[in-house]
Amino acid sequence: MAEAVDAVNERVGVVGGGIMGSGIAEVAARSGCDVLVREVDAAACERTQQRIERSLDKAVRTGKLPAADRDATQARLRYVTELEEFADREIVIEAVIEEETLKADIFRSLGKVTASGCLLASNTSSIPIMRLAAVTDQPERVIGMHFFNPVPVLPLVELVPSLATSPQTLERARAFAGDRLSKHTVIGKDRAGFVVNALLIPYLLAAIRMVETGFATVDDVDVAMVSGCAHPMGPLALTDLIGLDTTAAVANSMYAEFKEPLYAPPPLLLRMVEGGRLGRKTGQGFYSS
Ligand SMILES: NC(=O)c1ccc[n+]([C@@H]2O[C@H](COP(=O)([O-])OP(=O)(O)OC[C@H]3O[C@@H](n4cnc5c(N)ncnc54)[C@H](O)[C@@H]3O)[C@@H](O)[C@H]2O)c1
Repeated sequence: MAEAVDAVNERVGVVGGGIMGSGIAEVAARSGCDVLVREVDAAACERTQQRIERSLDKAVRTGKLPAADRDATQARLRYVTELEEFADREIVIEAVIEEETLKADIFRSLGKVTASGCLLASNTSSIPIMRLAAVTDQPERVIGMHFFNPVPVLPLVELVPSLATSPQTLERARAFAGDRLSKHTVIGKDRAGFVVNALLIPYLLAAIRMVETGFATVDDVDVAMVSGCAHPMGPLALTDLIGLDTTAAVANSMYAEFKEPLYAPPPLLLRMVEGGRLGRKTGQGFYSS
């Protein structure tokens, strides 16, 4: 095991540079942290870098970020393919696809590769944190830190301590998300779905069922919620944004935990995922982009 490091939360590691990992890496680098992103291969690192650069360019174009800060932010980001490079990290946030066995493998490796003072967080939407903590030798340093998409825009982070998470880990996670990244934090119990998805997922699934049964069209469902309830986007556009695979995976975890039919993914969602219609990330979901 590597040597312990001071807990100043400045050397950040992000595992997975997809929609969420790239957003988390971006906001951490914008806040002044030195950030390493681990992806599966060089091509995936390239895609992550391009995604972050596009997002930073947009922030500059819209006046949210001075051009000089974009260049400084880019200089604080590095992209790697080996987890061993995380030996000097002070906080690591895992954001790979929503698959329990993969996440558990990563936590097992992180427990060995990182220093004992390094905080280990998961951005999982629904997998109980205890299952990821239990595969490490120090479950007290593992916590859920659930960001929202798009990370540079949405100000919430749900903090999810497991029964084994120490109060120090919870306070460090709160300080990192709240003080350093300027996010609002709420604390949820370690139950599949935490606070937001426990409310959101049944709503998204109900909208998909409406379309599946022919009760209303995709457009009518979305227009109804935007125009009738002042939501910024309808549930089907939101499902496309989240990713249909992620939505199905979260629903499956919640169904496995509570055995409530309202969490069961409707067949239409499953067929679309099986057909690669994952939403914005593949260009086709309930809408084409
Ligand atoms: N999409 C959302 O709106 C949203 C919101 C909150 C939380 N989450 C959660 O965040 C996590 C990531 O979701 P996403 O939407 O970014 O998915 P995504 O499919 O966009 O990205 C996942 C990334 O993980 C990478 N990856 C896979 N195996 C890896 C490994 N062994 N090491 C490093 N990288 C690896 C993939 O190459 C991919 O780039 C999931 O747990 C999801 O539930 C998603």
